Amino acid sequence: MTAELPALKGRSVVSLMEWTPEEIRQLLKTAQWMKANRKVVDTRQLLSGKHVALLFELPSTRTRVSFQVAIGQLGAEMVWMDWGSTQLGRGESLEDTARVLSRYVDGIVVRAKKHETVQVLRRFTTIPVFNALTDRAHPFQVLADALTISEEFGGWSDIKLAYLGDGNNMAHSYLVIGAKLGMHVTIAAPKGFEPAREVVQWARNESAMTGGSVTVTNDPEQAVFGADVLATDVFVSMGDEGDLERKREIMHKFQVNQKLMGLAKSQAIFLHCLPAHRGEEVTGEVIDGPQSKVWDQAENRLWVQKSTLAHVLAD
Ligand code: CP
Repeated sequence: MTAELPALKGRSVVSLMEWTPEEIRQLLKTAQWMKANRKVVDTRQLLSGKHVALLFELPSTRTRVSFQVAIGQLGAEMVWMDWGSTQLGRGESLEDTARVLSRYVDGIVVRAKKHETVQVLRRFTTIPVFNALTDRAHPFQVLADALTISEEFGGWSDIKLAYLGDGNNMAHSYLVIGAKLGMHVTIAAPKGFEPAREVVQWARNESAMTGGSVTVTNDPEQAVFGADVLATDVFVSMGDEGDLERKREIMHKFQVNQKLMGLAKSQAIFLHCLPAHRGEEVTGEVIDGPQSKVWDQAENRLWVQKSTLAHVLAD
C-alpha cells in the first residue's frame, strides 16, 4: 500500500461530528484509492495478526458482511458476537464487557439500539470503537454515500442533497457529513418527524465554516427542486415498528417517485441505504431506474470501512 496514512491511528468512529473535514476527506481518498487499485494492491499485511469484534444488537446484511470482508481483506480476523448469545443478553454490564474485550481484540464494531451504548463502550474500552448504526447515527453509511456522490460528481462543493422521510439516524448523518464536506443539505420530513434540533443547529454552525448549508422543511417538492442527490430511508426504522400503519400514512407524500425525481436536476442520482420497501418510501421505477446508484452505494460501504480500519488499526 502506497497511500500515505495520516495520524488517525487509535481513533474511534462514534459520530463523524468528532472528525475534521480533512480527516473525513482522507478516509474517502484512501477508500477511493483502495477501490481503484483493488486488483493490483495486496492489503492483507496491513492488519495481519489483529482481531476485530463485531457486536450486533440488531439485524444487518450489508454492514455485517462488508465489515467482515473488509477485515478479511486487511488480513485480520473477525470475531462475531451476536448480542443475545453473549453475557450481555443475561445482564452483564456494558462497562465490564468493554473492559474484557479490550484485553482480547484490537477494535469493536458495534450496532446498537441506543447511541448511548456505543458511547459507554467507547468510554470503557482502550481500543477503537466503530459505530455500525445506532438510533442517532450511521456514520459508515454516509461515508459510503459521500464516496458515491464524489464518484458521480467529482466532489461535494455545490452539491444539493435532499433527504426525504423520517428525521432519523440517516437524516442526522446526512446533516453531519454534509456540513463536514460543504454540501447543501435539505431534510424534508413530516411535522413532528423533523431531525433533532441540536443536530440541525450543530450542522448549521459547522456548515458556516465549510461553505455548506442546512434547510429543514415539511415540503418534499421544495426540498427536491434542483437537487443533485435525492436520498431516503425506510419510513419505519429498526426498533420503531410499533406505530407502523400511522407512520406509513403520515410519510406517504414523502415517497420518492418519478414525479419528485422530475423536479430534481436531470442528472440527479437516487440513494437509499437499504433495505428498501418498494411502494413505500420509494417506487420500484426510481430505485430500479437509471438514476439509482444504490448498488454502487452499497458496495462503497466495503471501501470506506476498509479505509477506516486501515487508518485506525494499522501499526
Ligand atoms: N444500510 C445498512 O446499514 O444495511 P444493513 O442494515 O443490512 O447493515
